[in-house]
Amino acid sequence: MRIGYLQFEPVFGKPETNKQKIEQLLGKETFDLMVLPELSQSGYVFSSKNELEELAEEIPNGSFCSFLKKMSAEKEGFIVSGICERSGNNFYNSSILVSPDGKIETYRKLHLFYEEKLWFSPGNIPLTVHEIRHEQWGSARIGMMICFDWRFPEVTRILALKGAQIICHPSNLVMPHCQDAMITRALENHIFTITANRTGRDVKPDKQMQFTGKSIMVAPDGAVLKKSSEKAEEVLLIDIDPGLADNKNVNAFNDAFNDRRSDFYR
Ligand code: ACM
Repeated sequence: MRIGYLQFEPVFGKPETNKQKIEQLLGKETFDLMVLPELSQSGYVFSSKNELEELAEEIPNGSFCSFLKKMSAEKEGFIVSGICERSGNNFYNSSILVSPDGKIETYRKLHLFYEEKLWFSPGNIPLTVHEIRHEQWGSARIGMMICFDWRFPEVTRILALKGAQIICHPSNLVMPHCQDAMITRALENHIFTITANRTGRDVKPDKQMQFTGKSIMVAPDGAVLKKSSEKAEEVLLIDIDPGLADNKNVNAFNDAFNDRRSDFYR
């Protein structure tokens, strides 16, 4: 199974430009599972609810969803992307899993970071594992989390306990520690992780934020499979066997899940 991420610099408030950038970067690449950054269609640094009204879209029929459905069908590959979601009068920092047949699953960020708390409602959908399948490469079980969710190890743990083999992690990271921490998240759960981060900065009249790039894919043994530089806009891919994540064996005496002392964790 061929998995990967797309690292790029979304332009704030320019969804059409961002779609073009994504389409251009995906180019002739073929993949089975591709992860894009958080809030890929809108950009990150909001200054008003008006901007959200303008940029957020309903799932599954908004224009970014339609674009991703088209890309997913063309490529015959699954796509996970961050998206600025509108649902009724609420806005969510969400992630969608788009299938080549047009089906969409949604996750809403549980742990909002910094000023996101001014703009978004916290996630309200249970952590869910989705099985994806294709006649050529078989099947895989994936879980979604978004950026700052990494700081709460329960998220990865619960997805892994529910059977996730691959964690898809759209991100707009601003602090330096997550990329290293993802090695631990992968190792402690014996799972694959794909952190798709953005590059560059969002500059507004009253504030700005710099993002850290360095997107990273990690194997269940903690090996770094691929890592980008801080600035590169690129797609990186690797072939994996998702079934490796089902083996929680540490050595002849230890199993990462069966050795848990859950009685003592309450
Ligand atoms: C973040 O959660 N976007 C830092």
